[in-house]
Amino acid sequence: MEITMTAGSTTPARTYSLAVVPGDGIGPEVTGCALAVLGKAEELFGFATEREHIQAGAQHYVATGELFAGPIEESLRGKDAILFGSMGDPSVTPGILERGFILAMRQGFEQAVNLRPVRLYPGVKTPIADLSPERCDLVIVRENTEGAYVGRGSTVHAGTKNAVAIQESVNTRAGVERVIDYAFRLAASRRKKLTLCHKTNILVEAGRLWSDTMADVAKRYPEVETDYVHVDAMCFHLPISPERFDVVVTDNLFGDIITDLGAVIQGGLGVAASANLNLDGSAPSMFEAIHGSAPDIAGMGLANPAGAVLSLAMCLAHLGEPVAAHAVETAVVEVLGSMEGLAGAAMGGTTIEVGQRIVTALEAVAKGKTPLLAGQSIMEAMAAAKNK
Ligand code: IPM
Ligand code: MG
Repeated sequence: MEITMTAGSTTPARTYSLAVVPGDGIGPEVTGCALAVLGKAEELFGFATEREHIQAGAQHYVATGELFAGPIEESLRGKDAILFGSMGDPSVTPGILERGFILAMRQGFEQAVNLRPVRLYPGVKTPIADLSPERCDLVIVRENTEGAYVGRGSTVHAGTKNAVAIQESVNTRAGVERVIDYAFRLAASRRKKLTLCHKTNILVEAGRLWSDTMADVAKRYPEVETDYVHVDAMCFHLPISPERFDVVVTDNLFGDIITDLGAVIQGGLGVAASANLNLDGSAPSMFEAIHGSAPDIAGMGLANPAGAVLSLAMCLAHLGEPVAAHAVETAVVEVLGSMEGLAGAAMGGTTIEVGQRIVTALEAVAKGKTPLLAGQSIMEAMAAAKNK
């Protein structure tokens, strides 16, 4: 089947404004690959992007003192979406860029949901013995603006033997409800199972708010089966029996931790993608690979661009280009399946070369020479959850 829609058209019907924030470390390399794939996708699927490259990250911060708030926030705000590389560098005290940029953006732009698929694609190597793709296809919906990530608390008697550190976790009914509602919508368009992951036996206050909200929202989605798993037990079940899960909804910090575990199961941090979704259109959503800036291998061509390109696919699904999104996902899977290893020299090519292979694979998909990835794509589920 030929799925090219308006190839050759000179005036694309659909144009999206995109901010590109390559950032630090391996961010610029993997973002470069994502943009090469985007360029090809535009040509093949008849849409266009107007892109603005935003200088941000360690160098920019050292030179200007600028983080998210201020001019950068203003130039990002009006965009349809943000493609983000990574941020963090040894030249800046750890935490400044993470909190002052990444968290400030997630919170400032109300990117309430951090969507992190954990799918073992066919042909991709996993460290979990005997795990097959049929058994590993779930999505973790991480709350993205609250919990311990609000960074509130206090220390008294700092630096003395009497020091007392209080770190608060903020959970609002509104914040918890919107992420749980999204998770239900996603589950309703997938295998109709939603698992709450928390630690309600110990974190009783937050746990009660999460459980009560889950029970209330469940009444609106009778077709979705619900389930509960403690976060420590999740670390046991996820690698051994991922088939237990369809959609998992969880708090910000638990989500941070279990999505790294999820990334390992699906082949490593290099292949894991994410979407930071603003649910009401009041500000742009942001798309980033899960891996960090990896300054030790920056500029060496050793980073796997798959996570960044799959994040681009999620961006396309969000913008309303689900066919292109599914094709990009398929192209990435084709290339990953042909690789000896998923990172470094074992990839059998540099970051840019792997990116070029994805571009070539995308052409084959669009021309119908490679069938679209079988099974339900997260891209379709995202589109369905958005339109509900
Ligand atoms: C992630 C990262 C971030 C987080 C850091 C870089 C602030 O680990 O996206 O998972 O903790 O959320
Ligand atoms: Mg993390």
